[in-house]
Amino acid sequence: MTKIAVLVGSLQQNSINNAVAKTFEKLSEGTLEFEYVDLNLPLFNQDLEADVPAEVEKAREIVENADGVLFVTPEYNRSVTGVIKNAIDWLSRPYGEGVIIGKKAAIAGATWSPLGTAAAQAELRNIVGYLNMHLMGQPEFYLSVTPDTFGEDGLLKDTAFAKTYIDAVAAFMAE
Ligand SMILES: Cc1cc2nc3c(=O)[nH]c(=O)nc-3n(C[C@H](O)[C@H](O)[C@H](O)COP(=O)(O)O)c2cc1C
Repeated sequence: MTKIAVLVGSLQQNSINNAVAKTFEKLSEGTLEFEYVDLNLPLFNQDLEADVPAEVEKAREIVENADGVLFVTPEYNRSVTGVIKNAIDWLSRPYGEGVIIGKKAAIAGATWSPLGTAAAQAELRNIVGYLNMHLMGQPEFYLSVTPDTFGEDGLLKDTAFAKTYIDAVAAFMAE
């Protein structure tokens, strides 16, 4: 089965982006294997590169063994969150040999605001391009949530577009 490394850019327990990722996972059963990367990593510091922290080694291993990377990003101050950027920085090193370089990528995101993480995703596309990642351009997944978006099970109630999106991700990552 196609394996994807999933980077959810939020550490909070009731993350809406985590809820979206879990919905994708459920909808993709049988086609994609989700491996969540724990983004609670030490802040990147070049001084640490000589003796890379175990959590970073684990994150690198997951990405290295995956067919592609799915970013599910919140938007902070019109950009990606610090934890996403920090993880990418770790995964892009050592220079020229980072495990994330050249991987397939897909981007999705959710927010309470009307713009659906469009600004954050645009910034992430720049970074992904710089890293020679092969990005699924379309379909795009921008979600503006309301108090009614998630059901009792914590997953999206309306899964029609989420299903279209994750099916496209599965096809793209399997190519
Ligand atoms: C520091 C900070 C900055 C934020 N900036 C934005 C923003 O620029 N655009 C936006 O749509 N939401 C912004 N938000 C609101 C987030 O979309 C909201 O907190 C969301 O729940 C975060 O995703 P999560 O639930 O997956 O953690 C911001 C939140 C924080 C804490």
